[in-house]
Amino acid sequence: MLISTPRIVAVVNQKGGVGKTTTVMNLGAALAERGAQVLVLDIDPQSNSTSGLGVDPSRARLTVYELLAGTATIDEVAIPTAFPGLHLVPSQIGLAGAEIELATTPQREHRLRHALAELSGGFGYVLIDCPPSLGLLTLNALAAATEMLIPMQCEYFALEGLGHLMHTHGLIRMNLNRQLRVGGILMTQFDARTTLSWEVLSEVRRAYPDHVYRTLIPRNVRVGEAPSHGLPVIAYDPTCRGSEAYRQLAEEVLSQ
Ligand SMILES: Nc1ncnc2c1ncn2[C@@H]1O[C@H](COP(=O)(O)OP(=O)(O)OP(=O)(O)O)[C@@H](O)[C@H]1O
Ligand SMILES: [Mg+2]
Repeated sequence: MLISTPRIVAVVNQKGGVGKTTTVMNLGAALAERGAQVLVLDIDPQSNSTSGLGVDPSRARLTVYELLAGTATIDEVAIPTAFPGLHLVPSQIGLAGAEIELATTPQREHRLRHALAELSGGFGYVLIDCPPSLGLLTLNALAAATEMLIPMQCEYFALEGLGHLMHTHGLIRMNLNRQLRVGGILMTQFDARTTLSWEVLSEVRRAYPDHVYRTLIPRNVRVGEAPSHGLPVIAYDPTCRGSEAYRQLAEEVLSQ
């Protein structure tokens, strides 16, 4: 039997609040709805995708901390969520300390890559929810990933951050991970009524013509509400505009 390796997608942007966690939870759910087995890896000490998927971070027994420390395997730390096909490696606030502890360990940028190599077959996708920084936790994600997905908000300063991130991509390819490709840039919280949204979109398309997802994620109140119910939006309100947009994104990702 042929065992295929999963696509490992680092959802990354050093800027905060751009929709990384929202994209991980909802792209993950939309891919799982299409029949894929999906693993969400929460490597952010804020633990937003952990609580957003209905798991209390303070009660999680094994987390990504143990995974990085090498005291537990990926199959031991992964748990099912209430959403069929969607699994989670939870995070905890204590992970903030791991970044400091990791700094002095051998192969410090490759801990996650080695841990993921032991993932049992059957998973089609691993989606990594990165913290809003380019520290050691994010470097571990980029060293392990096959591709990066960059959510960005349609605001003027976002363009500067994007240039920095693309430069980082080049450095990672040279030094840590030759196979890392840019899966795409995803425009989030898009407000079709504002000129700025359209201007930023056309600037980004001009700068990175091959790298912008056709799908635009609209600003949608239901998307913001869903995590407080511990659910992806496609379970909370399956027909709202946000759900439709994340399903469309899943189609695009599946076709890549
Ligand atoms: N399409 C959307 N419509 C409405 N609200 C949204 C949308 N996307 C994200 N939000 C809200 O915006 C806030 C920031 O989103 P999110 O937590 O996904 O960003 P993040 O990049 O993960 O942030 P951080 O960098 O802090 O981890 C959250 O309150 C989220 O619910
Ligand atoms: Mg987040």
